[in-house]
Amino acid sequence: MTCCGTKSVLVVTVCIAIFVSIMTLSFLQKRTIDFVPVMKKSICEGIPADDTITALKDNRTFIIAPYYDNRKNKMTRVIAIAHHKDVKELYCWFCHPSNDEIHISKAEIDVHSDRFGFPYGATDLHCPEPEDWEPRYVSIHWSPYGDTKQLPFFKIKNREPEGSPVDFTVCISTMFGEYNNVLQFVQSMEMYRILGVDRVVIYKNSCSPLMEKVLGFYIAEGVVEIIPWPIDSYLKAASRWHYSEDPKDIGYYGQITALNDCIYRNMYKSRYLMLNDMDEIILPIKYANWKTMMQNLQEQHPGAAVFLFENHIFPKTVFTPTDMFNISSWSAVPGVNILSHIIREPDRKNVFNPRKMIVDPRKVVQTSVHSVLHAYGDNIYVPMNDALVYHCRVPLQANLPRESLIKDTTLWRHNVSLIGNVSKVLQQIIL
Ligand SMILES: *[C@@H]1O[C@H](CO)[C@@H](O)[C@H](O)[C@H]1NC(C)=O
Ligand SMILES: *[C@@H]1O[C@H](CO)[C@@H](O)[C@H](O)[C@H]1NC(C)=O
Ligand SMILES: *[C@@H]1O[C@H](CO)[C@@H](O)[C@H](O)[C@H]1NC(C)=O
Ligand SMILES: *[C@@H]1O[C@H](CO)[C@@H](O)[C@H](O)[C@H]1NC(C)=O
Repeated sequence: MTCCGTKSVLVVTVCIAIFVSIMTLSFLQKRTIDFVPVMKKSICEGIPADDTITALKDNRTFIIAPYYDNRKNKMTRVIAIAHHKDVKELYCWFCHPSNDEIHISKAEIDVHSDRFGFPYGATDLHCPEPEDWEPRYVSIHWSPYGDTKQLPFFKIKNREPEGSPVDFTVCISTMFGEYNNVLQFVQSMEMYRILGVDRVVIYKNSCSPLMEKVLGFYIAEGVVEIIPWPIDSYLKAASRWHYSEDPKDIGYYGQITALNDCIYRNMYKSRYLMLNDMDEIILPIKYANWKTMMQNLQEQHPGAAVFLFENHIFPKTVFTPTDMFNISSWSAVPGVNILSHIIREPDRKNVFNPRKMIVDPRKVVQTSVHSVLHAYGDNIYVPMNDALVYHCRVPLQANLPRESLIKDTTLWRHNVSLIGNVSKVLQQIIL
């Protein structure tokens, strides 16, 4: 028994040794064989990636979209989400659609500094492009080796900027949590229109059926563009901005990544982008609308890239009567009626008051929510007598007595057109 046991152990060992050598040999062989044809085959034969978010095989990197960017060095900039520690090496595979050439370059991985403690953050992948041809497609892979047919490939946007840009686009980063604040949404939309908006781009995670109907109306009007944003299918998304308040994978439903994608997506489509939430309206005080405001501000500051506006809280818990307005029919619509909220909290001296921004997207490299991290141009702090951000939400200073709050009827200046336009829209889709 002992003898036979030893014998079988020996046989098994020899078998394993032979097996391992064969596997090693075939691996080495496969690797060289695989690699050579790859260089001759077009990766344009891979899997076309059409979704807003595409997970790579490492499950640590998520690609939003690649954009051509020749403002400093000629490169493809890929807007992505990556784990700040785990993702150390990525390669850009460029394919040439006609001559079957493929160019592989190592990506510089730049996780944005504003991550607010979350493990995943907005990330730029800088992909150096081939010198003698213009790639149209790119794949991102953790290795310079692999099977091209298995890789998702992405069309590189912004290579041929099209058409003439509109003036004003609002970027709404992430509508989530079965959003159903219909009345405030319609009021904000109509205020944007009164002030001169051309388009509103909404990164949509989830909303109510009634809200779907409202979005459908504005899509048909040609004002709203929806970018599907199913971030929670890939990562645990926090509904708060800081990791300490909601320890998940990524902050605020990936808001910062959505904003950066909005910048590049609309870089040549819109002269200005407003980066604000649905409950915020950049409200000119000295000017009738956004166009005259920006003409004046840009004339005063020709080198400006970023205009920052003071955010002022109009608590939705503090009401002012609106009997003089013909809006009783609106009470059937779910959501906040901003016309009732024209009393704002005072600024707190020792507390940081975040601002919201209008940017020239062609001058922005990386943005955060309340500031631009990297731009080719100046930051301008727009004074309060020019404009403010009307922000109607839960109070920040809930314990202040009413006498300490400030009545500010700037919004009411627009009552006639706002009420007329909102009533018309509600009549068409809801009432
Ligand atoms: C990636 O995630 C998918 C879905 O959650 C899972 O099935 C797969 O095993 C993961 N792959 C790796 C390499 O972790
Ligand atoms: C009040 O508004 C409704 C539309 O919402 C309109 O039909 C009606 O004529 C208005 N009434 C007055 C007195 O303006
Ligand atoms: C409504 O707007 C008009 C100007 O369009 C203004 O004369 C009127 O005072 C406003 N109403 C209120 C209550 O502010
Ligand atoms: C909103 O109302 C104003 C004044 O009543 C009108 O001139 C304008 O055309 C309306 N805007 C829209 C988008 O309906």
